[in-house]
Amino acid sequence: PLPAHIYPNRRNSAGVDLADPLALAPLVEDLEHWRTDDPIARSTLRAERDRARTDVHSPFSGRVVGQCIPATSRDIDLAIARAVAAQPTWDALGGEARADLLLAASDLLEENTARLLDLCEREAGKSLPDAVLEVREAVDFLRYYACEARMLFGAPQPLPGPTGETNLLRLHGRGVFATISPWNFPLAIFMGPTAAALAAGNSVLAKPAEQTPLIAALAIDLCHQAGIPTDVLQLVPGDGTVGAALTSDPRIAGVAFTGSTGTAQKINRSLAAREGLIGILIAETGGQNAMIVDSSALPEQVTRDVIAAAFQSAGQRCSALRVLYLQEDVADTMLTMIKGAFRALVVGDPVDLATDVGPVIDEEAKAKLEAHVAEMQAAGFPVTRLPLPEICKDGHFVAPTIIEIGSILDLDEEQFGPVLHVVRYPVGTMRQVIDDINATGYGLTLGLHSRIAETRAFVEAHARVGNFYVNRNQIGAVVGSQPFGGEGLSGTGPKAGGPHYVTRFATERVTTIDT
Ligand code: NAD
Ligand code: ALA
Repeated sequence: PLPAHIYPNRRNSAGVDLADPLALAPLVEDLEHWRTDDPIARSTLRAERDRARTDVHSPFSGRVVGQCIPATSRDIDLAIARAVAAQPTWDALGGEARADLLLAASDLLEENTARLLDLCEREAGKSLPDAVLEVREAVDFLRYYACEARMLFGAPQPLPGPTGETNLLRLHGRGVFATISPWNFPLAIFMGPTAAALAAGNSVLAKPAEQTPLIAALAIDLCHQAGIPTDVLQLVPGDGTVGAALTSDPRIAGVAFTGSTGTAQKINRSLAAREGLIGILIAETGGQNAMIVDSSALPEQVTRDVIAAAFQSAGQRCSALRVLYLQEDVADTMLTMIKGAFRALVVGDPVDLATDVGPVIDEEAKAKLEAHVAEMQAAGFPVTRLPLPEICKDGHFVAPTIIEIGSILDLDEEQFGPVLHVVRYPVGTMRQVIDDINATGYGLTLGLHSRIAETRAFVEAHARVGNFYVNRNQIGAVVGSQPFGGEGLSGTGPKAGGPHYVTRFATERVTTIDT
């Protein structure tokens, strides 16, 4: 029999097959319809009217694509109070009923795919294929955690004891969770931790990234339409100060954060400094992800996987490849092929299906990446860049870049964009390569292209990473198949979309009855 968490009746979302003209044509028509929409994101429970609005901008054109009313401290206070009051009833509802509501929400998200795709492109600058994956992943998270709610939060688990003694173990929600998410997966990673926290019986205050509040607002609205009560799940939009106000409030039982390592460390300090309730932190953060290629690897496969892992989503995936290690004796051949495919990349409008690399999220992200490239150039490392076409002039574009360096330790932090670093390593130095990768302190994804079983076993045994991919690219983890998350500077674990995730959002209670 299959282990319980495989859930034979669960199916991941089919998404949209963009290669099928019969699927693409109606979708394009639907997208055209939604492009005229004028979206606005505001707190679920509004304390005040006529408050200041902020504009949401397109990373591609710079134009205003929607508005946000950031939560004030009064909004936050009211939201927490309502969430605290609503949580016991939500918890008492039980896993079965919560699962039904999460499944209803997943169906509504799927039915509203075109609206979600439109917002993903508008405010996050995502290409259509990336946006389709984004909606699929959000739907998959809702369905997977619904299965978990059913399995883990139903009947109590009997435990052994002496004759006459009954022991029962139950899982409950911890209270109110704040889920704080990044802009790079504005739907999937906004919805994933939120759905897990709800599945476990918590009420949730969901704070999207300030760059991408619109898609989050629609997702929350759809969850409410599905029947999840408005006090149990609330949108709390705003920037980092809103996030900080949530995490410093002792009524918040836990924080599920995805974003940069630096922000996770700030939240950790904020939780530790609070009086009262001891809040828990689940953090999924950045990476300095490598791929190692030896002489047994297939060059065409390596080329395809390097290009996808480093440049898809403009390199704005936490899983993306940052440092490619090429075995010295095959490095020239591999690099010639990789640079050939690199030069063929199309940079431009994310809406255009021919585009491979779209914009980065904002001017700040662009400036940071450009400063890094300039610094590496000044230090004498060889740099290859693509020219940017005219269409990129109004957007936040960073030209895809390859930089040859000496070691992963030449880099100080994650560069979150279309910049690939390449290192040549001599035969027989795999131990040193792994030691250097481990020495970064990050541990998110690692790729290996090798047909040698001993090499694979060696790397698997020594690399301290959350997701290890062999002979494929290292992006696009699938819910239920590749539970995703890192260790060390890359996060606290547990792994999203895996069997040990939802329990971290729960507390355990044991009842012992003696006759
Ligand atoms: P960020 O840390 O700047 O912001 C993330 C969120 O935290 C935003 O909602 C922001 O408003 C909020 N925030 C900022 N300061 C805060 C504070 N003091 N207290 C509470 N909340 C605060 O990250 P980002 O730039 O939005 O996202 C990119 C980063 O996310 C990259 O480092 C990437 O690797 C990481 N990421 C990791 C994963 C993963 O699963 N490991 C997935 C996606 C992105
Ligand atoms: N889960 C996302 C990926 O694997 C971050 O690319």
